[in-house]
Amino acid sequence: MKLAEIVPWGRTQEEYRRMFNLTDADLGKRILGVGDGPASFNAEQTAAGGSVVSIDPVYAFSAQEIEKRIEATYHTIIENVQTDEAQYNWTFFQNPDELGRERMKAMNHFLTDYETGKQQDRYLVYALPRLPFSDQSFDLALCSHLLFLYSEHLSEAFHQTAIQELMRVANEVRIFPLISLTGIPSPYLNQVLADCRSQHIQAEVVHVPYHFQKGAFQMLQLTRTA
Ligand SMILES: C[S@@+](CC[C@H](N)C(=O)[O-])C[C@H]1O[C@@H](n2cnc3c(N)ncnc32)[C@H](O)[C@@H]1O
Repeated sequence: MKLAEIVPWGRTQEEYRRMFNLTDADLGKRILGVGDGPASFNAEQTAAGGSVVSIDPVYAFSAQEIEKRIEATYHTIIENVQTDEAQYNWTFFQNPDELGRERMKAMNHFLTDYETGKQQDRYLVYALPRLPFSDQSFDLALCSHLLFLYSEHLSEAFHQTAIQELMRVANEVRIFPLISLTGIPSPYLNQVLADCRSQHIQAEVVHVPYHFQKGAFQMLQLTRTA
């Protein structure tokens, strides 16, 4: 992975709670954060006594390198959001400035936790579609803004392998959102649903109390039935 190609953008624990319908009981589980990048979910959960391991290829870089990349891309991202303002619902965030402030708060929180978290093996340089964890190492795997969203970059075969792998290492998997970057439902969703159901995995599309990018208000929830 080349850092120059990465657009670092990280969400908060509150956003994770809404995107994945997380209850207090869920937050007490052994959680795998898949593609967490510079989100503050791990830092906030750890501070609250939770158990989260985050995996992301971007963790090959140092805090200083990631911070520089955030600084280099931040204004362009906010300008793009301002240009495309109508593609978002401004209820959770009032406007692009507030969005920018909240994202920076989350990413700074991540950066202050990053070196400690690396020493504690909470930020690991692993990448889908294959993970080196043993079977059912986690109660719950959460994947925010990676699978389905990047349908134009990651193939259907990648999605199928990655989702099977997540169901191997965790008892339950939740993925948000189910639309691609173009704003239309991912073309892979139906095949993934069919694959799961043929493999004794209960697959449900669930409405969640988070709707920022228009059309992104559903998660996929996968649980083993046999
Ligand atoms: C849009 S960011 C989402 C960050 C975070 N999940 C959130 O919602 O705030 C996507 C993340 O996926 C990571 N990523 C890209 N390819 C990956 C892969 N094959 N396996 C795991 N993570 C990957 C990127 O490095 C990036 O940090």
